[in-house]
Amino acid sequence: MLEKDIKKVLVSHDEIVEAAKKLGETLTKEYQGKNPIFVGILKGSVPFMAELINHVDTHIELDFMLVSSYHGGTASSGIINIIKDIDQDITGRDILFVEDIIDTGKTLKSLKELFEERNAASVKIATLLDKPEGRLVEIEADYTCFTIPNEFVVGYGLDYDENYRNLPYVGVLKEEVYSK
Ligand code: PRP
Repeated sequence: MLEKDIKKVLVSHDEIVEAAKKLGETLTKEYQGKNPIFVGILKGSVPFMAELINHVDTHIELDFMLVSSYHGGTASSGIINIIKDIDQDITGRDILFVEDIIDTGKTLKSLKELFEERNAASVKIATLLDKPEGRLVEIEADYTCFTIPNEFVVGYGLDYDENYRNLPYVGVLKEEVYSK
């Protein structure tokens, strides 16, 4: 039913699982003995986080934040509102932000700076998708599964008007759906 609104599949479910497995193995080595906190940014990161942690075979903790862009300031401020913060002190902790997509980069740039101010031992970023053509501020992920073109994508956590997050793959939405 949802599939009829999708113009093309950009990243299939199998490709996502394969990439999560590969990244999970890398993170298992990287974070051995460090007990990092994987911080998912709600809501889009949920499916990717859920798959990724299946493939991490060392101790990690999980936490989540909910943020929104701040529209009251200047357009380029890159300041975000924290709607739900993580639940613990992160002084001296290793942090891995887990995201579904980096587009303008404003969300993760602000969060990375904030966590460095909070004296994390390290702050790294893992993203399922990177859309480099959308970038407005300088920030790069440490781990990127797929680099995608500047198209409107939905699925695997990504929404259009809060819908399509439950598609098991990443696809491009038909124009007729959002031009209605
Ligand atoms: C999306 C995505 C990232 C952010 C990336 O979240 O999950 O958090 O936008 O965009 P940026 O690089 O331009 O800052 P969104 O605010 O749409 O919320 P959602 O995860 O609940 O869909």
